[in-house]
Amino acid sequence: MDKRQFFKTGFMGIGALLVSSKLKALEFYPTSPVKKWAVVYSTWCGSSRDAGVWISEGMDGIADVFDVRENPDLSKYENLVIGGSIRSGKVSNQMQEFLAQNNSALKGRVRGLFAVCGNMMQPVGPEQTKTLIDNHLAKLCDTDNVLSKVFLGRITYGLMDKDSRQMMEGFDMPEYDNLKRADCMAFGKEILSNA
Ligand SMILES: Cc1cc2nc3c(=O)[nH]c(=O)nc-3n(C[C@H](O)[C@H](O)[C@H](O)COP(=O)(O)O)c2cc1C
Repeated sequence: MDKRQFFKTGFMGIGALLVSSKLKALEFYPTSPVKKWAVVYSTWCGSSRDAGVWISEGMDGIADVFDVRENPDLSKYENLVIGGSIRSGKVSNQMQEFLAQNNSALKGRVRGLFAVCGNMMQPVGPEQTKTLIDNHLAKLCDTDNVLSKVFLGRITYGLMDKDSRQMMEGFDMPEYDNLKRADCMAFGKEILSNA
């Protein structure tokens, strides 16, 4: 490669980096370009990310889907779905802080709430909705009377931090995967048809 070609290739590479730094990894481009919906989730190992994407898929892809750690600007959206995975009975600290900081942007915009939990691999019912949604997430969002769903999640040891992994292995917890795309999509459809 001669000197001129070397610099040309270098500048093209930098240009590509500048463009790609603006791209979002999970961006989806639905048929209708207007996105007034956002799903904001919190996760440790990815279950709630998948739930969020599948909920949006159930809404024909019209929602932007954000990890709460991206600190999304909610003012752009008219309708919000908020959810997160559960550890020790609660969503992550980042989600709790985000919801406190965005209290006014949430007002009148939350259309759905969801939680993803293990529930010791047992089916979920009204008790989990009361504990994780009514008495926890709904309070953090300062909202009530919105559609909600508790999903069963999964355990993937390879994605877990060392301490959590040791703790879960100490309980003899096997790896499992109980999160269902169809359930998440059905919830997305329900939210949309209710809006
Ligand atoms: C350290 C740890 C604590 C957990 N605590 C709870 C809990 O209190 N209640 C529950 O139902 N599930 C609990 N789970 C199960 C998770 O909620 C479940 O695995 C979920 O799918 C994880 O979501 P994520 O992949 O988005 O991080 C816990 C899991 C771990 C690893």
